Amino acid sequence: MLLKNKLWPEVGSGIDYSLLQDKWIPAPWINLGDWSVTEDYREACHQLAFRLGDCLELKADDRLLELACGYGAGLRLWYKSFGVQHCDALEYRRECHDFIESDPPSNLDGLIKMRAEDFFSSVFSGQCKGEAGYDAILCVDAAYHFDSLRDLLKASRILLKPGGRIGFHLFCLNSQKPPGGWLRKLFELAEVDSREFRNEEDLIREAQEKEFEKVEVVDMTVQVLGGFASFVKRRSVQLGLREKLKPAWWKIRATAWLGNKVLRQGWLKYVMVQASVR
Ligand SMILES: C[S@@+](CC[C@H](N)C(=O)[O-])C[C@H]1O[C@@H](n2cnc3c(N)ncnc32)[C@H](O)[C@@H]1O
Repeated sequence: MLLKNKLWPEVGSGIDYSLLQDKWIPAPWINLGDWSVTEDYREACHQLAFRLGDCLELKADDRLLELACGYGAGLRLWYKSFGVQHCDALEYRRECHDFIESDPPSNLDGLIKMRAEDFFSSVFSGQCKGEAGYDAILCVDAAYHFDSLRDLLKASRILLKPGGRIGFHLFCLNSQKPPGGWLRKLFELAEVDSREFRNEEDLIREAQEKEFEKVEVVDMTVQVLGGFASFVKRRSVQLGLREKLKPAWWKIRATAWLGNKVLRQGWLKYVMVQASVR
């Protein structure tokens, strides 16, 4: 979730990963991170993704689909930590495709170059029937960008084998009072549609209606949003003036500010969701 180019058109729609980490070999991460056991950005990103993979109990013989894979750092993690050898990955940003294709992870079978929404439509129209049969579908720190959670669940239900698992991160409403108009506007700038926010009970009910069971929601607000805000303060000290004057850095700072605001006001929760198909 990074505030985007409407405020600063020169920023572009991507995330300048070099401002977040000094090393990005073999691949950069671009997520908010789980900061419960580290102060290092790459390690925090790794932790956020690892915890999702761990909760889904990924296994070497799983066939996996990763949605919004960014630069493909997760694909390498699924292989290294869980031995997963067959993955398809979806991402719409060209610079990410170019990066992945310049040195593809050994477990990458197919790169789906489209927006998640278009992919879901192709699933509903039966165009990608042959690709069904995944054991697990993961989406690290990105599902809140998609137009519709309902479509994510519906498409995943079609794509997963019986007993298949899904895991993703999301924002959930945490109070009766929905976030005010100006906060909604800020989320819009971050390409997050706040009309999609629902509370935990509604989220679980919707997943169950789409034939998912064992739906579990884990609150990670403090270790993700609080951790990222503290990291951005520390990183600000490490960066030179030239980097800090870049609009891309202001975008990152604004994102950290928004995350911290959400944390302090308590309107929203950042959650990890996992479920399996009945
Ligand atoms: C916070 S980044 C996470 C990337 C990666 N999962 C990681 O952990 O490094 C969010 C990703 O979602 C992708 N994304 C945003 N909206 C999308 C959409 N509608 N369809 C597919 N990908 C999308 C972005 O291009 C970006 O790579």
